[in-house]
Amino acid sequence: MELEVFIEEISNRIVKYLRAGDEPGKVADPLPHTSLSKITDLKLPIEGNGMNAVLDDIDTYLRSCVKTNRPEFMNPLWGGINTAGLAGEIIATLTNTSMYTYELAPLATLIEQTLLIRMGEMVGFSGGAGTLTTGGSNGNMLGMLCARQVMVPTSTQTGFDGRTMVAYVSSESHYSVLMSANVIGIGHQNIIKVACDEDGCMHPSALEEEIQRTRREGGVPFCVISTAGTTVRGSFDPIKEISDIALKEGIWHHVDAAWGGSALFSSKHGALLDGVESADSVCWDAHKMMGLPLICSAFLVKQPEILARVCAHGNVAHYLFHEESRNIDAGRYSLQCGRRNDALKLWLAWRECGDAGWASMVDRYMDLAGHLESQVLAHDDLQLMSSRMWTNVCFRFSPEDYDGDLNELNSEIRRRMMQNGNYMVSRSNIGDDVIFRAVISNPKISEHSLDELLNELTLLYNDVIRGLPSEHGASSA
Ligand SMILES: Cc1ncc(COP(=O)(O)O)c(C=O)c1O
Repeated sequence: MELEVFIEEISNRIVKYLRAGDEPGKVADPLPHTSLSKITDLKLPIEGNGMNAVLDDIDTYLRSCVKTNRPEFMNPLWGGINTAGLAGEIIATLTNTSMYTYELAPLATLIEQTLLIRMGEMVGFSGGAGTLTTGGSNGNMLGMLCARQVMVPTSTQTGFDGRTMVAYVSSESHYSVLMSANVIGIGHQNIIKVACDEDGCMHPSALEEEIQRTRREGGVPFCVISTAGTTVRGSFDPIKEISDIALKEGIWHHVDAAWGGSALFSSKHGALLDGVESADSVCWDAHKMMGLPLICSAFLVKQPEILARVCAHGNVAHYLFHEESRNIDAGRYSLQCGRRNDALKLWLAWRECGDAGWASMVDRYMDLAGHLESQVLAHDDLQLMSSRMWTNVCFRFSPEDYDGDLNELNSEIRRRMMQNGNYMVSRSNIGDDVIFRAVISNPKISEHSLDELLNELTLLYNDVIRGLPSEHGASSA
């Protein structure tokens, strides 16, 4: 097949996929993996199938993928697709380079630098440094490595020094901090989960107590991670107070703003991150609320030399790094060797919409989340399960006269929702309670699609209730 024809075929498919997001349709076709693998030809052939078959395979893929660009998709902390970002992704792939040196990625390096400087300034780290990483998980790990570097300055060469190092996170923090604890070598047991208040925000006084307890037990507190936008409830830890404690105790303060960092664009909601400028490092995912194609995530640090020491690799990579470009090669601030150009898509998207565009996106998402919250509060059988700070709306069915198991009831409704494939919201837990978490992080979501979500859930709820033995007592609407 001619190159032009092939590219046109691909381009037609892209347009069709994007347009289909605005037409009636399903988010997902919920097939178990055993069935999907039976109906799909997955084998790798000995003789190649040729380019026409590539198009067929793409069609197969497009048919069965979860339609994350649909307004009914509200499951994870991202959704929809930023069109300028999509263009950046395509062009970055087309021009396939790696971000280690200026020599190999000249304009991409300058673009990445521009983004990191700007995001750093927004956080309050003027004169800082950073890198684009594989995501908030990686950013949290880099934050902990910087903390280790400061507490044990020889650690890049010698590792830990035999003392028991302890880090602190809120009990509602993201699971990546546990994995980071494993990777950096302190182990899960040296992550202390600090108690939260009823809104899911870390208690500063509980943090103080935990730090003192560690010291009494002979451990060395070295890092506290606060969360700006927790995964389930969207809660923001009191960053300023935690920074004050970190400063007093001489420990590194990393802010996991993977989810909530975008609040900084908004003059209405930026105060959620008050005090972030006092922290030492921050991660912020542009592939979450800002809608950039996965992956696009920044790690930002106030003191550039700390990150440079964490990423030091001596002079062994003489085939890549040369002294004359020391000050511009981005590979000296990254733990990766080969690294995608994730900067181009963010730069294009930012130039397309400007700060003002991001700010109105954040404000619009908050308004939409407010709409869903008020509809939940007005619904006879729904209960809001957490006060709302960000665009996570956590709720569940909790009918007054129902005496069955609410977790089973809500799990069954979620199971049927997935079976229908019309909507996708996450099934999560708050404490022991199973809840629905709907997230507004998708430009296609509207007041109408949120109302329709509640209509669908109410229909499913009525179906489940009707099918229950009458002793459970809830009246169906
Ligand atoms: C609060 C928080 N931090 C970190 C992460 C991890 O981010 P990533 O998926 O980009 O690694 C998530 C993911 O949802 C998150 O919610």
